[in-house]
Amino acid sequence: MTKRLMAALMAVLAMIGATMAAPLPALAATPDNGAVAAKLAANPQLGGAITPLRCNLPQGGCYQAYQSGSIYWSAATGAHITTGAIARRWGSLNWERGQMGFPKTDENCTLANGGCVQTFQGGRIYWQSTAGANAVTGAIGSAWDRSGAEQGKLGYPISGENCTLINGGCVQKYEGGYVYWRPSLGAHSVHGSIGNKWVQMGYERSPLGYPTSEENCGGAPLRCVQYFQGGTINWPTSAGVSVNPYQSSVGVVVNKRRPNSPINQTPPDLVWVGSQVMRSEAANQLAQLISGASAAGVPITTVSGFRSHATQTSLYNSYVAQYGQAVADTISARPGYSEHQTGLVMDIGNPSGACSLQACFANTAAGQFAAANAWRYGFIIRYTSGFDAITGYTYEPWHLRYIGVRAATDMHNRGYRTLEQYFGLAAAPTY
Ligand code: DAL
Ligand code: ZN
Repeated sequence: MTKRLMAALMAVLAMIGATMAAPLPALAATPDNGAVAAKLAANPQLGGAITPLRCNLPQGGCYQAYQSGSIYWSAATGAHITTGAIARRWGSLNWERGQMGFPKTDENCTLANGGCVQTFQGGRIYWQSTAGANAVTGAIGSAWDRSGAEQGKLGYPISGENCTLINGGCVQKYEGGYVYWRPSLGAHSVHGSIGNKWVQMGYERSPLGYPTSEENCGGAPLRCVQYFQGGTINWPTSAGVSVNPYQSSVGVVVNKRRPNSPINQTPPDLVWVGSQVMRSEAANQLAQLISGASAAGVPITTVSGFRSHATQTSLYNSYVAQYGQAVADTISARPGYSEHQTGLVMDIGNPSGACSLQACFANTAAGQFAAANAWRYGFIIRYTSGFDAITGYTYEPWHLRYIGVRAATDMHNRGYRTLEQYFGLAAAPTY
């Protein structure tokens, strides 16, 4: 054998050896087993590719972008198209890396009013031409589903979730109302006449706080009630809508028809403000009012705040002894029926004592400051001039009742002069 023949034989043997050592070619060319290519082949409207297939996503996922949309694939969800406004909303929520995860379906555009929905691992995104594209997730989404979703009273979502509310609450807005959620209270919708009243009073910052139920309607004629942390709202009533705050609420209504409950109750959180005590929230706000007045050059003193049942008994009895019961009943509440027993009231005065607990207090510096500014701090002049037939009492320009800034501002802005009218409750001229 020549050297040349030997070399050729060795080369052939080396080739055979190399061929035998090489692995078999893989059946799948890509991590997605061709799922993206198959999806593209079925959807030529996506147009030409503008990126290569990239498989560097979480969960081993892949995507490829085209002129009219993208295809996203993961082993758990398969290959689906994202496009248009829903894709942009998904992107604003950080694509597959955000709470929505990968798409589980393509868009379904057969919904009411030309709407579309796409389901993702973490929820759904809805789009409709006037509502826009918004995600629906979690407990709020479940409450919306129970209400009938886009076909129910709430219609399509018009915002995402806003979770910056007091006490860790969240809200989502819909065409026809809201869904509110708060830890331990769950998610409940608010809409219609009951919802409008609650919105006007200040939403979750109203005296009623967050909803604790859906609106419950029944009977003939139809009657609806919705429960909130601080009371109920009823509709329809003779006043349209009626608000019934609980005793524990800063919105509680005490008058000649609505005694304290229990009649000798003591509020839970009395703190000092000046020489008197009040419930803490009211005391804090009254302290603000007093310092605001002081800054404006108007000194204001505290004259009478929380009164116990026993104190109100001796006070009322002294007025009866002095003026007789008929007159006493126009200036002093019978024991059990005084707003002072709620801890949400302060009779204010001038340091000089000028016009103390007299109608002329309205013309003093303290009286004028209170009339103009009490609402800014969450207080109302509870017994206004000329409304005896509703409140049951003559004018008391010194008697400040705390109801919270939102509700007091709404009463001020919309010109309500009595709590009974504002809440749609019966007048209470007599017992
Ligand atoms: N002076 C008010 C009405 C009261 O006694 O509560
Ligand atoms: Zn008073």
